[in-house]
Amino acid sequence: MVGSGLVVVMGATGRQGGAVTRALLADGWPVRAVSRRPDRRAARALAAAGAEVVAADMEDPASLDRALAGAYGIYSVQNPMTCGLEGEVRQGCNVGDAAARAGVRHLVQGSAGTGQRGTGVGSFESKLDVEAHLAGLGLPVTVLRPMAFMELMTDRAFSPAAGVWHVWPALAGWDVRVPWLSCPDLGRVAARVLADPRRFAGRALQLASDVRSLAECREIHTRVLGRPPRRFPMPVPLFERFAPDIAALWRWTRTAALDVDPRATLALVPDAATVEAWLRRRAGRPRRPGARRGGR
Ligand SMILES: NC(=O)c1ccc[n+]([C@@H]2O[C@H](COP(=O)([O-])OP(=O)(O)OC[C@H]3O[C@@H](n4cnc5c(N)ncnc54)[C@H](OP(=O)(O)O)[C@@H]3O)[C@@H](O)[C@H]2O)c1
Repeated sequence: MVGSGLVVVMGATGRQGGAVTRALLADGWPVRAVSRRPDRRAARALAAAGAEVVAADMEDPASLDRALAGAYGIYSVQNPMTCGLEGEVRQGCNVGDAAARAGVRHLVQGSAGTGQRGTGVGSFESKLDVEAHLAGLGLPVTVLRPMAFMELMTDRAFSPAAGVWHVWPALAGWDVRVPWLSCPDLGRVAARVLADPRRFAGRALQLASDVRSLAECREIHTRVLGRPPRRFPMPVPLFERFAPDIAALWRWTRTAALDVDPRATLALVPDAATVEAWLRRRAGRPRRPGARRGGR
């Protein structure tokens, strides 16, 4: 099946969609990457990598119909941080409806959490609303549930100094064991899943390539990068005001049973990054000129 049908990727200029696009292209699939702004740099980079880039908006069903014409499969993901929880549900349902109209043979939904209701985490509940809608469409659907991206530790867009290294342990303790996965490995999982609908359609996969406590991650960071992670002691109530859903998620991890077994993910992507490998990769990058050394 690999490479034989067109796959449409929503959110292709973002973390998940970008990784899925690159993994599919590497496996030889024709990929149609969707962006609201194909003229932007991230979209042009996808075109340069070999994807067909088209304009569509998850709020606009007619544009989704055009984007999905002739598609074999689709990777769908929404971001409640930018569109809100109601927006996430509306957009996820719009994409599912358009996929059903187009008769796609496999929809892979980028989700999160445990699949259980009642966590008190809004962005888990909204994802379950999307999944419930998809389940009623009669489409072959596979749900992917990563828990925490390794990028939370390293990507400046996530403000790791304030977030993962300060507010998360403040809310849940340093010993909370976190199922980690990098976005590139999520992309590779999605590519494997899209290639094998007979095996994966109808399933929800909890994903993690490593399970490590925040304390272990801090120790690995210190050993691998030669310094402890930088911490910015942002007051928790301030963080909560700007990111209430993330604060609720991290508070939930204090008591949640986060016992994802990495073996299932590693069976799909055997060389998926451990936390140590992820941070080593980071350590291998050239430092920015003038960047400060040493942590707080
Ligand atoms: N951070 C974590 O640890 C973690 C773990 C598990 C799951 N998640 C989940 O990951 C999801 C976010 O994924 P991400 O990090 O890949 O997001 P992202 O990097 O913000 O990318 C989202 C992309 O969606 C596109 N987009 C936004 N609104 C659109 C619209 N109305 N129509 C069409 N495209 C639109 C944007 O592209 P254009 O601007 O080019 O249109 C953007 O590049 C969330 O649901 C979150 O809960 C996160």
